[in-house]
Amino acid sequence: MSHDDIENIGSNTSTNPHIDQIVATRYSRRSLMVGGTATAAVLFYGGSQVLASGAAASGAGRRGPRIGFTPVPTSSADALTVPEEYTAQVLIPWGTPLFAGTEWQKDASNTAADQEKQVGFNHDGIFYYPLEDGAAGSRHGLLVLNHEYTDANQIYTAEQGSAITPDAAGREKVAKALAGHGVTVVEVSQNADGTWSEVIDSPYNRRITGVTPVQFTGPVTLDHPALASRNAPMGTLNNCGSGPTPWGTYLTCEENWNGYFGTADTTWAPTASQRRYGVSAAGFGYSWHVAEPRFDVALNPNELHRFGWIVEIDPMDPHSKPMKRTALGRIKHESAAVTESRGKAVVYSGDDENLDYAYKFVSARPWKEARARGLSPLDEGTLYVAKFEADGTGTWLPLVHGVGPLTAANGFADQADVLIRTREAADAVGATPMHRPEWISVDELTSEVYLTLTNGSGYTQGRGATEPNPAVNSERNPNPYGHVLKWREKDRDHTALTFEWDIFVLAGDPVYDEKANGLTGDNIFGSPDGIWLDPDGRLWIQTDISNSSQNLASRGYDNIGNNQMLVANPRTREIRRFLVGPRGCEITGVHTTPDQRTMFVNVQHPGESTTHWNTQFGTPSTTNPRTVSNWPQFDPAGRPRSATVVIRRKDGGVIGS
Ligand code: FEO
Ligand code: CA
Ligand code: CA
Repeated sequence: MSHDDIENIGSNTSTNPHIDQIVATRYSRRSLMVGGTATAAVLFYGGSQVLASGAAASGAGRRGPRIGFTPVPTSSADALTVPEEYTAQVLIPWGTPLFAGTEWQKDASNTAADQEKQVGFNHDGIFYYPLEDGAAGSRHGLLVLNHEYTDANQIYTAEQGSAITPDAAGREKVAKALAGHGVTVVEVSQNADGTWSEVIDSPYNRRITGVTPVQFTGPVTLDHPALASRNAPMGTLNNCGSGPTPWGTYLTCEENWNGYFGTADTTWAPTASQRRYGVSAAGFGYSWHVAEPRFDVALNPNELHRFGWIVEIDPMDPHSKPMKRTALGRIKHESAAVTESRGKAVVYSGDDENLDYAYKFVSARPWKEARARGLSPLDEGTLYVAKFEADGTGTWLPLVHGVGPLTAANGFADQADVLIRTREAADAVGATPMHRPEWISVDELTSEVYLTLTNGSGYTQGRGATEPNPAVNSERNPNPYGHVLKWREKDRDHTALTFEWDIFVLAGDPVYDEKANGLTGDNIFGSPDGIWLDPDGRLWIQTDISNSSQNLASRGYDNIGNNQMLVANPRTREIRRFLVGPRGCEITGVHTTPDQRTMFVNVQHPGESTTHWNTQFGTPSTTNPRTVSNWPQFDPAGRPRSATVVIRRKDGGVIGS
């Protein structure tokens, strides 16, 4: 999500040492150099060769994966740009019918019932599932993708306007927004000319929305008093990052779910637990509670406890119920990076808010054994939170009732309570606050784990004043550009309880920030968010510069241009820009077919209101949603649409190589 800086203001009032302090201590005797050249990398990694050199075991070798395309320059144009050797095709933009008879209307006059049968709004995490074995599987499969949130000035007609009213019209507008959220499953296939098409009326086609019936599994079930709500259990919201499991399902994350709740009840005030999750009377301004009591936090507070989970979906069974896997904790889940060690399933996840934490879940038993017994590998296991030390090591702290401070005497009733209040439990055990932990991805060739930290722009607002010397006790504070961390678990075993860590790259523009001095015009970037290691070990990095910073000189973001995607060689640390998106968008979600000849990338919220472009062209509204961008169709009577972009090499080769 990036329509404002909400995640930048943290809610963590614990005194756990921040990653800034830990980084500063660790690197205090070295000059910090980072970025795109091997020379810089050697200087930076001078004290931590153990991490840098251990990668050689992989099939990609010491030099890492080949990166062989012409870099794309930065751009502030309302266009999507890929390298000259590549083609880009727009597929399944918002509103594309999944079933015949629900054509998209460019004036946004589609109803909520239409939207339930169309591709959702604001595409995010995406993965491709082959429907056939062998080579055919790279030409025919399912795309499963998240839809994070809706923009009120784009989904309603000029006549409807964006305000939510307490009447039938308001309820229809909330219903349309709910139908625009969630997940799309859509069958796709490659045509003879190489392009891709969706298969309308496929039996696999499915929308999971904010009103789809759901089940809760693991330690927190629907009979828990904290989940008793006035309405049936339904819906998944603010679906941001995602991840595939080794057993063929899809994990979708519920991120900024708190923003949908609010109340007009002036006697209401959030509890400490609600505050820790950012629940407020105003929410993020969606005002759904005005028309729909389900989202009135004063009337229906337990509905809050039904969100913040990782939800498992079986895309191959269109009749399966989405399962909220509560053992993985309740946070603002950004990603669900699944890997395995000793046969056990391990799920890494970030909690995207300033001063929040990185987590991992380890299944209790090997996932194949659990499934053979008819159990979910995600229902029994241990959730851990990360603590980083200044000596370059770290530990995983268990969030287990009765262990350490997580006792009844300290207010944690049982394991279900620990999971419902995951953030408070993590505060109590002493986790390390970080700069907005977003996507995590595992390099399966080296077992190294990468985590994007979008930025720390709100750090001094949220907490810095209570810390010793916040302005100097840090490598970069405030941290407007973000960075990528990497770690390696002990013995490369993802079930291990200790790890070694380092910074992979500090993002930024060296014109404004000398700490980004390894980056150049070919690879300056800021606010890394999406991240994915492809099967050859290429590290794809996607950016989500917030709308209040994008293209703005006053924020040091004018040279970086629109949001973009880059690719890095993890061994040499070479970084090249591969794609730049249109105005007002973020780039998020990337996957390829198994043969790596087709890549799917999502463009989210093109044309959203931004400080820079609004100044130039006016603020987008339901009357004119086109002021910032009109990508991808540029129809003078249309509107911008989030979409999946299909990228192929003109010579049919492996993407990125
Ligand atoms: Fe949905 Fe944290 O980005
Ligand atoms: Ca984001
Ligand atoms: Ca994101």
